[in-house]
Amino acid sequence: MFQLKNVTRQFGKKTAVSSVTFDIPQGQMVGVIGRSGAGKSTLLRMINRLVDLSSGSIDFDGAEVSSLRGAALRTWQRDCAMIFQQFNLVPRLDVLTNVLLGRLNHRSTVLSILNMFTREERIMAIGALERLGIEQTALQAAGTLSGGQQQRVAIARALMQQPKVLLADEPIASLDPLNAKIVMDALRDINERDGITVITNLHTLDTARNYCERIIGMAHGRVVFDGQPRDLTAAAVAEIYGADTGIEESMTSTSINIPAAAPQEETASAGLKPLALAGI
Ligand SMILES: Nc1ncnc2c1ncn2[C@@H]1O[C@H](COP(=O)(O)OP(=O)(O)OP(=O)(O)O)[C@@H](O)[C@H]1O
Ligand SMILES: [Mg+2]
Repeated sequence: MFQLKNVTRQFGKKTAVSSVTFDIPQGQMVGVIGRSGAGKSTLLRMINRLVDLSSGSIDFDGAEVSSLRGAALRTWQRDCAMIFQQFNLVPRLDVLTNVLLGRLNHRSTVLSILNMFTREERIMAIGALERLGIEQTALQAAGTLSGGQQQRVAIARALMQQPKVLLADEPIASLDPLNAKIVMDALRDINERDGITVITNLHTLDTARNYCERIIGMAHGRVVFDGQPRDLTAAAVAEIYGADTGIEESMTSTSINIPAAAPQEETASAGLKPLALAGI
């Protein structure tokens, strides 16, 4: 169970996240939406402490994660895995080694420096790759994989941390619609089968609606919507994205129901943020 109380982050005079308060029960799948600059990434980064809070507190299962230091902070960052839009793999290393890197926080520094992994860890890594359907890529350099495959490697690496929480910062923003679906299905499976809380930033409304039982809408650093997909009315969408943007749901769609003969450019650009949402 997460409890965020008045979570605030300032960068100089800019308030990126402003007095955010909400609870998340264990095992929920939450989508965070909002236009560019709304504070979505900063919020996720504060949860796993890549960014410190300016004020407020974040508790997980009764422990205050916002004040952890040293080894306790590293343990939290192991329990709270994170995946990113750009995958953050080591491109020259093979896929299996990239996945094994997810074990680093579980082991002694000496073993880590020697880059020695146990037989059990290797079996676990292959199992994670099999779960994501990409075990055949195990010995390939990660940089040679498609974006969708790379994101699945990143998820497999996150699973190696045996996390309690999985944070995903726009995990499908660089992917074509089919790979976006594969990655979102994988996140849903991890949430449902393993009971891991998933909090994911998304720039597409339909993805948030289809996959998340709860949607948090942010605007100007504040939470302006917190509810179930069915509560996300046109008025709520206008408040999240700004009434001036003229947002229509179809503009943010990553639906895979595109014609099979769609031109290549169209498919390639489907993962890009719509201009209106990018705040341009
Ligand atoms: N390290 C930083 N230094 C200064 N300002 C920052 C920093 N990180 C974020 N900001 C500012 O905080 C605000 C919120 O940024 P954030 O990246 O959290 O937004 P976002 O909702 O994730 O946007 P996007 O959809 O573009 O990813 C923005 O105005 C941004 O410029
Ligand atoms: Mg962001």
